[in-house]
Amino acid sequence: MTDRGPRPPVTESGRGGADTRRTTWTRDVTGYPVTVAPDSLGSVATISAAVTSAHRFAIITDETVRDLYATRVVEAFATADVAVLTVQAGETHKTRESWSRLTDGMLRLGHGRDSAIVALGGGVVGDLAGFVAATYMRGIPFVQVPTTLLAMIDASIGGKTGVDTPHGKNLVGAFHRPAAVIADPTVLATLPPRELRAGFAEAIKHGVIADAKYFAHVRDSLPSLLAPAGHATARMTELIIRSIELKASVVERDEHEGGLRKILNFGHTIGHAVEALGNYRLLHGEAISIGMALEAEVGERAGISAKGTADAIRSVLAAAGLPSARPGGLDPDQIIETARGDKKTMAGSIEFAIPLGIGRMAAEETGWTARIGEELIREVLEECVER
Ligand code: GLY
Repeated sequence: MTDRGPRPPVTESGRGGADTRRTTWTRDVTGYPVTVAPDSLGSVATISAAVTSAHRFAIITDETVRDLYATRVVEAFATADVAVLTVQAGETHKTRESWSRLTDGMLRLGHGRDSAIVALGGGVVGDLAGFVAATYMRGIPFVQVPTTLLAMIDASIGGKTGVDTPHGKNLVGAFHRPAAVIADPTVLATLPPRELRAGFAEAIKHGVIADAKYFAHVRDSLPSLLAPAGHATARMTELIIRSIELKASVVERDEHEGGLRKILNFGHTIGHAVEALGNYRLLHGEAISIGMALEAEVGERAGISAKGTADAIRSVLAAAGLPSARPGGLDPDQIIETARGDKKTMAGSIEFAIPLGIGRMAAEETGWTARIGEELIREVLEECVER
């Protein structure tokens, strides 16, 4: 690859400043830097070399993102030793087969322990490439370069890596911290509108679980953020930064999900089941949007969530153009069965992270999840169906 010479180091200018579109923001999360900076794709090489000390790099990406951004990232590396490995786009390819193909590809190219991986893409690429990194020669460093809103604000932060199995989502994986996360909001320009909307589901979740003011801010900002060129505004960059801060503050206190981190699974118990049973035709954000609405409804009917919580969540999801009811083609019993097989099951009963209200989660005394009887879950699934 062509060496275009050294790139200037990313400067830490923090937040502040009138126009966050021009600001480089960096925050440490459990020992690795998370950077949000417009046009930072050109800095991926410099940052990756600095944080990993690797001599060779494997960029793992999908076909869509490769065609859009791989050349820009590759050309900035000072070393010729950069390979690009590609997977097909979409959650159906986040599998052990893809993991095996990528791993064999790196072995064939002779990558050793002096190599590092750059995960260039959305949540699927980040989870998959992270799992390759976690297991390759017992673990090599990797850098997350998220290119979707959802991956920028959620999937790339916190070190969860893994693949899906026919039994459910993310059931094989590892905690493996990235060496750095580099988010360039300008790449959202090429994100399909449906993917952008799906990303807001995680921002809404961050508001529900930890910050009522942020929840209201997301709700009020949605019209302008969804407008043409809304992705390129200071408001969007601020949203990305605030969501990362909220997620980071949880991950820092409970990285391996012994308790508090379970609040990040709000919407994911039913959401994962709906996503897998629908053969991944719903995007992850769409599935957890349904999961949040239904789990909040369960919470209210169980007397845990304050009255009006589910309505407030449904109305902001609707403003984002996101679904909030069970898809008619998915059977309630199958959803319950699949949810039982999720990692969030404890001794055979289904555990939910449930909001007390907007901005606060329930069940601190029982490790941040509440056991909910299957009859109530079935009742909600039967009544809250798309029309
Ligand atoms: N997306 C849930 C977590 O990172 O813990």
